[in-house]
Amino acid sequence: MNLTVNHLSKTYPNGVQALKNVSLTIRKGMFGLFGQNGAGKSTLMRTIATLQDTDEGNIHFNDIDVLKQPEELRKVLGYLPQEFGVYPNVTAEELLLHIADMRGITQKGERKEQVAALLNKVNLYDVRKKRLDSYSGGMRQRFGIAQALLANPKLIIVDEPTAGLDPMERNRFYNLLSELGEDAVVILSTHIVEDVSTLCNDMAIIGHGEVLLTGKPDEIEASLNGKVWEKAIEKTDLQSHSNRFKVISNHFHMGKMMITVVSEEVPDGTFFKKAPTLEDAYFNLLYDEQKTAAL
Ligand SMILES: Nc1ncnc2c1ncn2[C@@H]1O[C@H](COP(=O)(O)OP(=O)(O)OP(=O)(O)O)[C@@H](O)[C@H]1O
Ligand SMILES: [Mg+2]
Repeated sequence: MNLTVNHLSKTYPNGVQALKNVSLTIRKGMFGLFGQNGAGKSTLMRTIATLQDTDEGNIHFNDIDVLKQPEELRKVLGYLPQEFGVYPNVTAEELLLHIADMRGITQKGERKEQVAALLNKVNLYDVRKKRLDSYSGGMRQRFGIAQALLANPKLIIVDEPTAGLDPMERNRFYNLLSELGEDAVVILSTHIVEDVSTLCNDMAIIGHGEVLLTGKPDEIEASLNGKVWEKAIEKTDLQSHSNRFKVISNHFHMGKMMITVVSEEVPDGTFFKKAPTLEDAYFNLLYDEQKTAAL
């Protein structure tokens, strides 16, 4: 089971080049697509989900040519868009039954059974008779997953599913998602580092429409082993440190500014060594990319 994306490029009519020669191979399991706002994640996902066209490139899922046989792909696809738009004035159960019907589960008893099982799985069975427009953000996301899972899809695409969830809901959602990768290709986009490190066995980092890096989250982290340093400074000293060191990021911790520096050797005796995180790897990549762009 395998999704391949080859040399995909897309420029929107307003001139924004959202995808630049994107190539990826994605195998069974959970794949994380990580990138900042505007990186091109949703564009790529909508294209794979057959909802928009490209200027160049092709996509294959097993033996389906996705861009040429969109109706074949839709039979095996589950898709949770980043934005659902308007929540209809119907109950969760009604809408799931309707979607199941459209996906070809025509036998009434089977349809009811599948829908009930899914509602149980996402912990919405008790509120199945409530209208969707009365659901909280977390309940809506769980509903979204339920509809994406109807009819046992083999390719599941979820676009920033954890955005806007509180920590408890996010945890519940992680548990739900972690089961999915067992028998399908699952692509999850996010700009939350924790999503990727918790859930994904493979990932790609994309920025400005380009694939910057692919690999396993732990290997990407390990590539910075022994090279990440941290120091608390006064805010006013940021510029002088940035001039002297490769400061990939800064953040406030208990009122002090903490800077993270990448260096083969200890920068000087005032720094402490730190275990690299995926976020460090990401900021390091962005730093290098900006340096290259500035040349
Ligand atoms: N329909 C559209 N028409 C014109 N430009 C668009 C359209 N959709 C997206 N863009 C632009 O294309 C670029 C990529 O957008 P996209 O939504 O794919 O990014 P994203 O990684 O999903 O971002 P986010 O994290 O904010 O969801 C952005 O510059 C965006 O403004
Ligand atoms: Mg998006």
